[in-house]
Amino acid sequence: MNFLSLVTGRPGPSGFGSASTAEQVTQGMDASNLTVLITGGASGIGLETTRVLALHKAHVIIAARNMDAANEAKQLILKEDENARVDALKLDLSSAKSIREFADNFNALDLPLNILINNAGIMFCPYQLSEDGIEMQFATNHLGHFLLTNLLLDKMKDTARTTGVEGRIVNLSSVAHIHTYKDGIQFDNINDKNRYSDKRAYGQSKLANILHVKELSRRFQVNTEVAEEGVNITANAVHPGLIMTNLFKHSAVLMRILKFFSFFLWKNVPQGAATTCYVALHPSLKGVSGNYYVDCNDVKPSAFARDEALARKLWDFSSKLVSSVSKA
Ligand SMILES: NC(=O)c1ccc[n+]([C@@H]2O[C@H](COP(=O)([O-])OP(=O)(O)OC[C@H]3O[C@@H](n4cnc5c(N)ncnc54)[C@H](OP(=O)(O)O)[C@@H]3O)[C@@H](O)[C@H]2O)c1
Repeated sequence: MNFLSLVTGRPGPSGFGSASTAEQVTQGMDASNLTVLITGGASGIGLETTRVLALHKAHVIIAARNMDAANEAKQLILKEDENARVDALKLDLSSAKSIREFADNFNALDLPLNILINNAGIMFCPYQLSEDGIEMQFATNHLGHFLLTNLLLDKMKDTARTTGVEGRIVNLSSVAHIHTYKDGIQFDNINDKNRYSDKRAYGQSKLANILHVKELSRRFQVNTEVAEEGVNITANAVHPGLIMTNLFKHSAVLMRILKFFSFFLWKNVPQGAATTCYVALHPSLKGVSGNYYVDCNDVKPSAFARDEALARKLWDFSSKLVSSVSKA
């Protein structure tokens, strides 16, 4: 996909492009046998993703820190389809305690889990530490989703094994993964206030989202060789496009000015949810893992994002961090 395709909406090899909406890319699909968990599914791109997946009869669980917003989202969807299956559970991704409680609550429901959409995110916030003492954008966008995914993986593996239906993990990354710190991930200075850049910290966390699926994919494939039954789960990352949502609240004025001059690069929310829904549901992606999608097409991410050694290093670093905060 190139700049011209983005501006004109011309479809790429998948048959879809920047102008495709989430409803269009999932047209005619039946998701009634699927249970989907989506973080941040109560607003922005996540809400549209929830709505469209529920429209296709999936059972969607919104994981949200704001339960009022999640219940409002649920009511909105029920207004459109009174048979929609949407539920909400509380989750604060910036807190390991909240993530562990969420996983216990989810597992207690004894539901299957086919699709995990790691969608929630924050952007360009001023320097702040999470309650676990980790820089907030890294903690929320990457580390929280890393821990959540690990805690739900056995459930996903069980579901895939017992149903024979491929599980899918979708991480919401961003083209901003290109704009990160000098070494990609600041392993030695993750909390360094003096070097903090709100833009590079966001880019770093979005780079981590891609490296996360890359390493997950490698692990699933390695397991295929070792275990008799392979791990029938794929993991991919997406850039949804540029969509004016609450995400821009820390730079609203700047972004509105930018949008005025670059209006042809922006999508509406239904278009913004298309790539997530495509990667979560489309049958043509069966068995496809470790990729990065933009406008519903496979795209090569940055050199850092393709670096397998960096992906493994981030995995080990993240594992150590989550176990240290859990012991604290
Ligand atoms: N919009 C774009 O142009 C764009 C471009 C590239 C990538 N993305 C990515 O797309 C994803 C969705 O963004 P969006 O545009 O839909 O933004 P949004 O409307 O602000 O939605 C983000 C969601 O994440 C939730 N969230 C934030 N912090 C959380 C936490 N600690 N625990 C649980 N939930 C939390 C928010 O909940 P609250 O309402 O409680 O804050 C909100 O529901 C993000 O990962 C973003 O990085 C967006």
